[in-house]
Formats: sequence, C-alpha cells, structure tokens
Amino acid sequence: MRTDTAPVIRLSDYQAPDWLVDTVHLDVNLHPTATRVRAVLALRPNPTASPAALVLEGDGLALISLKRDGVPLAPDSYVATPDKLTIAQPPHGPFTLEIETLVDPTANTQLSGLYRSSGTWCTQCEAEGFRRITYFPDRPDVMAIYTTRIEADKSEAPVLLANGNLVESGDLDGDRHFAVWHDPHKKPSYLFALVGGDLACVEDTFTTMSSREVTLRIYVEHGKEGRAGYAMDALKRSMRWDEEAFGREYDLDIFMIVAVSDFNMGAMENKGLNVFNDKYVLASGDTATDADFAGIESVIAHEYFHNWTGNRITCRDWFQLCLKEGLTVYRDQEFTSDMRSRPVKRIADVRNLRAAQFVEDSGPLAHPVRPAAYKEINNFYTATVYEKGSEVVRMIGTLIGHDQFRAGMDLYFERHDGEAATVEQFVQCFAEVSGRDMTQFMRWYAQAGTPEVTVKTRYDEEKRTYTISLKQTLAPTPGQPDKEAMLIPLRMGLLDKNGKDLPIINAQDGSIVRDVLILDKPELTVAFDGMAERPVLSINRGFSAPIKLVTDLTGADFALLARHDSDPFNRWQALQTTALRLLIDNVSRLRVGGVPRADDHLIAALAAILDDAGLEPAFIALCLMPPGEGDIAREIGRDIDPDKIQRARQALREDIGIRLGAELSHAYERLTSSEPYSPDAASAGRRALRNVALDLMAATGASPAFTRASEQYAAADNMTDRMAALSTLVQHDAPGRAEALDDFYSRYAENALVIDKWFSLQASSPHKSTLDKVRALTSHPAFSMGNPNRVRALIGAFAHGNLTQFNRADGAGYAFVADAILEIDPKNPQLAARLATAFRTWRTFETGRRTLAEAHLRRIRSHGGLSRDLADIVERALA
Ligand code: ARG
Ligand code: ZN
Repeated sequence: MRTDTAPVIRLSDYQAPDWLVDTVHLDVNLHPTATRVRAVLALRPNPTASPAALVLEGDGLALISLKRDGVPLAPDSYVATPDKLTIAQPPHGPFTLEIETLVDPTANTQLSGLYRSSGTWCTQCEAEGFRRITYFPDRPDVMAIYTTRIEADKSEAPVLLANGNLVESGDLDGDRHFAVWHDPHKKPSYLFALVGGDLACVEDTFTTMSSREVTLRIYVEHGKEGRAGYAMDALKRSMRWDEEAFGREYDLDIFMIVAVSDFNMGAMENKGLNVFNDKYVLASGDTATDADFAGIESVIAHEYFHNWTGNRITCRDWFQLCLKEGLTVYRDQEFTSDMRSRPVKRIADVRNLRAAQFVEDSGPLAHPVRPAAYKEINNFYTATVYEKGSEVVRMIGTLIGHDQFRAGMDLYFERHDGEAATVEQFVQCFAEVSGRDMTQFMRWYAQAGTPEVTVKTRYDEEKRTYTISLKQTLAPTPGQPDKEAMLIPLRMGLLDKNGKDLPIINAQDGSIVRDVLILDKPELTVAFDGMAERPVLSINRGFSAPIKLVTDLTGADFALLARHDSDPFNRWQALQTTALRLLIDNVSRLRVGGVPRADDHLIAALAAILDDAGLEPAFIALCLMPPGEGDIAREIGRDIDPDKIQRARQALREDIGIRLGAELSHAYERLTSSEPYSPDAASAGRRALRNVALDLMAATGASPAFTRASEQYAAADNMTDRMAALSTLVQHDAPGRAEALDDFYSRYAENALVIDKWFSLQASSPHKSTLDKVRALTSHPAFSMGNPNRVRALIGAFAHGNLTQFNRADGAGYAFVADAILEIDPKNPQLAARLATAFRTWRTFETGRRTLAEAHLRRIRSHGGLSRDLADIVERALA
C-alpha cells in the first residue's frame, strides 16, 4: 500500500476488458462481523480482446470457496490473495464462476465496500469498493445485470434493500428473513448497493411523463422521519425538471434513498438505491439552515440526475470521471437556477469555484479536468473534476447556444444509452449538431491551470473606435510546463455613460458570435467602430469562462458597472473587484506598518445597492459581503501573511458597519419577519440580507449590535437566524458568547447534525485561543475520530476554513492537523487524504510559515505505513 510501490495508472494505457460479465447473482448473508457473500458471475471472453488469464480484483478479501460451472476448482488451478484472484487457464468460452468470500463489516472503518453505520449495513462501491465485497473485474466498462438476495436477522434488519425492483421476500427459520432484488438495467459494479437495517421510511409517489407511477421511499433512522419531507419534495421536483429540461424519464418502479450518519462524501447515485450522508437528507426549520436546505435540494437533484448522466451512460474508465460528474454538476446547477434565482446561484457557484477550484488549480495538486494519470482514484473526486468540469460543459452551451446544446444532449442520450462512454464521444455530439470544430476546445479537458486573460482597452476619439486587446496566458502546472492557447468564450457588452447597453457591432472579423467574444489565440485585438463616446466594457459576463481576469478598467468604470450593468453577475463582480483592489492595497500598507485606507466610492456603491428596491435581497446580501480571506490570499498569491489579510478585511467590514450603520439597521428592522419559517428562496434571501446586516453592524464592535445578536439568538424560531446570531457572537468574540454556546449545545445535544455546527463554529473563530479550544474539543464526549461528519466539522473546518489559526506563525496549527491526519489514516484513508489537502497552499506563505508547513508535511511523509490515499496527496504536495 506504500506509495513507492503504488503503480501509476495512465489513460494512455487503457485496454478493453479481457472478460465481460453478463449477469451477477449475489447471495449476501448479513452478519455483524462475518458476512458471507456468494457471487455467481456469468463470464464470457470479450470478442474484441484476446484473454489469457482471468484476473479479478479484490481488496482485503478472504476466499471460502470457488466453483467453475458448479464444480469446485482444483486448488492448483487458481491463486487467491486478499487483493487478487487469478485463474491462469480459464475456459475459452463462456462459463460461470461461483465465488464465496467472507467480509467483516464492523471492522470496515474505511467506509468503502460493505460497512455498518449505527448498526445499519450499507455499501459504498464508487470508485473501487465492490472489490471489497467479492472478487470482480471492478472497472466501469464491465456492465452486468445484477440480482441480489440478502438474508439477515429479522429483528436486526427488518429492512433489506438492493438495486432495482423487489422480486421476492419471505421468512426463514430462526428469526431470519430474506429479500431478492433484480435490476433489469446493465450497470458497472460501482453502482451496486445493498442496505440492511432497522429503518423508518417516508413514502410518496411520482407519475412520470408517460404516466407510469413510481414509488418513492426515503429511509432514515427511527425518529428522523419528520425531517425527510424537504428531501422528498426536492426529489419530486428533480424528477419533473429532468423530464421538462432534458426529456429524461425515470426507468424503474421504485426509487429509494437511504440516509446514513457515517459517510465519506455527500451521497452516492447507486442505481435505484441512492445512499446519502444524513446531512443531505435531514432538515427542519429549527434544525437546518437555509444553506442546508439549499444543499439538500442540490444534492438530491445531483444524485437523481446521475440516473441518466452516470448510470444509463457511464464512464469507460475513471479518467472520464468528469463525463458524469462535471455534466451532473452542470445539471444540478441549472436545476437550482430554475428553482431559485439564476444570478444568485451563479454568484454562489463562482465564489465556490474560486475558493475551492482556483486554489487547487494554482497549487501542487493541480490536474486537468480529465487527468492523464493517477495513483489513487479517490483523490480525484475534486473541485476540478466536478466544478471546473461543470464550467466546461457550460462553455459548450455558451459556444453553440441553448438549442444546439439541447440537441447535442439528446444525441448523446440516444447514441450512448447503455454504454460506458468517453469525453470525446460526449463532445463529438455537440460538434455534430452544431457543425463546430471542437478540437481546440478539448484543451479544457487536458490542460490544468486557470487561464489568465489580460484586457487592455483604448478609445480613439477621432476615429470613434474602441479597441480591446486581449492576451491569454496559462501558467505551468505539475507535469505540464508548456501550454497551448485555450478557446475562451467571453460574453460581453459595452455600456454607454448612462449604463445602457450599446449594440455590439464587430466590424473587423468574426471573433464575436452573438454577444460572445471568442479568444482562441494567445493574443487578439477587436475594434468597435462608430463609437460616439468611450464605452465601458463589461466582459466575461455571467462568468462565461472560468478564468482569472485582469483589466485596465478604472474605479469609475467599476462604479458604473456596479450600478448599471444589465448582467447581474458583473454588477456583483464590479463590487468585488473594487473591494479586492482596496484590500490588497491595505494588506501592503499593514505589512509596512501603515494603516488601512478607506474607499468612499466603494461605500457609496454599496449604499446604492442596499437602497435599490428593484434588487433581490439575496443578491444585495452577496454584494455586501466583502471578498473572503481566501479570495484575498489567492489574489496576493505569494509571501502571504494571513494575519494582515484578516486585519485588512476586518477593517473594511468595520468601515462598512460604521458608515452604513443607519442603512444596515434600517434594513435589519425592515426585514424582521413575524411569518412562520419557510425555506423558500425568497424568504431565505431576506434572512441572508438581514444576517449580513447584523454581522456588519457587529464588525464595529459596538455593543448595541451584540445585544441585537443576543436577542436574535434567544428569539429565533429557526436555525438560520439562531446560527447566524451565534456565529456573529463567536466570530467577534462578543460578551455572551460562552453562554450562548453552552445554551446551543444543551438545546441540540441529541441532534448530531446540529452539534456538527457547534463544533464548526468554534473551529472557525479567528481568535488566537481557537487552536487550544479545538484541541480540547477533540476530548469532548461528543467528538469522535470515527465519524467523518464530526471530523470535518471540527478538524476540517479548522484546517480548510480558518486561514489565520491553521496558518499560525508558530506552526502549532500545522502540528495539530498533521497529528490528526496521522491518527485518522489507519482507520479511514479517504478522510485523512481529504484533510491533508489543506496543506496544498503551503508554498504561498511567507518564509516562516512555509518552512513550518513543509516540515510537518515531511513528517507525515516519513511516517511508516501511510495509506496509498494519504501518501499520494503528501507526495504531490511536496513535489
Ligand atoms: N458519485 C458520487 C457523487 O458525485 C461521489 C462518490 C464518490 N465516492 C468516493 N469514495 N470517491 O455523487
Ligand atoms: Zn456526482
């Protein structure tokens, strides 16, 4: 398992499977520590390959028996290790192989394969967990029909579920019972799932576009049924939306979701039997925030949408992961945009893309949307594959337009249904329907890094021409020293001095299609004639390309855009850019012992936004939030001093709080509602604005704001408002903070998801005592290194979400997180590896911190017996 022995898997080495599997019959006898699995595989040689030996993957398996066509195999005709089953001389034609293995679900702390979560047996097979259940050609291009028989104690596991439709069930001797499930759709092994446990169930139905009735069930632990309603509603809306937006109908008689409390990721799209992290199913107004509700809506949609993009059409190999993930993220983002506010969703997604993906793309873990090589595939479920993968799909839509995009999707579904496909096959569909050559566009899948586009503008009064000169660069990333020019679609507009859009007439060449300027060379100049006055450029509208943009626009230009741009995204962006310029300048001032300056134009622009009755409250809330510490750090890029960043940002928030105090207070009062809580987007937007106002008022340190926060905490009838008030008290280290935290704990001690918030909040405080608190909290009775949600809530929030305290100048933050990583790794490698990615920015810090972070990374690397997952991250981070 050590890295030095872990082989590199390369896309260029892909070979079709030697053996195909037509059917799989599984017989699973559930037992807490000794579950017996009998698998009968109908194997046949792949006509396009020339099989010699049969080699099946395993992982930690114990073989009990092996039969070929019903006859036990001679011991010298096969070799079985925990990781591999080899039959050197298999038959030349089809045959059945019956494999009996023994697995221990209780000892499975990796949460991959068959494991137990609070007594419930469940599975997680993506990416390579099926081989921890039985020996199998565990790769996505081997698709088979599965029948699963599960047997268990009736009292321990009254509920027995697997993929597909239930075909038989019944009682057996001695409190045992069984169920048989059959999935008529071919699928890869990573989509297999089974569940056994004592679970409660919420049921509903959905009538599809062709009038078939589908049973919908959400299974949760007893006592949690009351919190599954929103997830069910989101599921039904997802099913309808996929019919309306993409013409995709559900294809089984039943769709099931099971929520478990121990899960490595968000959720999993197993055919007909999604398994979810509790966090993305359970919600009620008094236990979940508006953000939690939005998260549930999008993850429910995401997993449901995988039924067509992932399950019906799957990936040929794991290098194609973005084929299902990027596309499905794109689909869930579109769903949310239709359910809620498109501009607000776009801004939220871009903030997230920059915070997670841009950071990844500029550091040692940078990789292409379609990686060319990996050692551990679980380390590639990344923001690049998911979020940048979605941006790439979105750009295809921007290039060819909505109708041709839909036609391309229709062609993709029609042509590749039932197949394991590649990115080339996907993009080819759009090339065909639009007639556009997509060769250069494919570089988005192959070249890592965030392109930087520099824009220079010039107005010639005499000739009345306005010229924009664009230049693109793409910095080297690991393994890719030289890059080729990308095809970058930039939606744009030109504003007159009153902020009205001018018609775009491009006299020079064909580089503008509709309102999209296509930058496909290292440099490009475009001139606009007949300009009676100097226009103001609005470029990369809607963030049409995932790039870093540097322009020569002035403060006055941005003020005009912030006020008038017809593209709401660029209104928000103009404010962010203005604030970011100020913040970067102030960080420099602070570093040479100076004081931060204020920016009257920015305050005036924010006042205007706050006063604009035509804007959605959720949009105003986003505009009022200054760039995050991470945004500032990313912009600075090197020799970073996080304390100065924190101070500069705090100074700006204080300035806004003081100078817009009356307006903020007014907004706060005006948005105070006596209506009962509803999680809908409009109500959530009003709460968001009100809580941003509260936080900015508190940034002044004035006690009336803290009194308001304390009152809001006590009076809140919903988790959003209660949590926001508590967060304000904790972040500003306000009086009453300790009492409120104690009160919060005792109110919600029984609710694990709420207690996760309690841990997170304390871990994200910028106060210098935070590390001591976090360390002490690891001994809290409610803390456990075994539960991924808890680890992420406390240690993850500290490492990924607390710039100043994780990156303490004395290195104590690094030491603590490195110790935690080493403690978690033997139990749960995926969780440890995820946590270790917090170190990926280490080279961007000033010398002192950089040296300390590097020392702790080296300490992890030199530790014996690291998992392949963790070793891979640490090796790459240090390379
Ligand atoms: N396919 C799942 C999703 O996007 C993610 C599961 C990944 N799990 C893993 N262990 N790598 O919804
Ligand atoms: Zn997914």
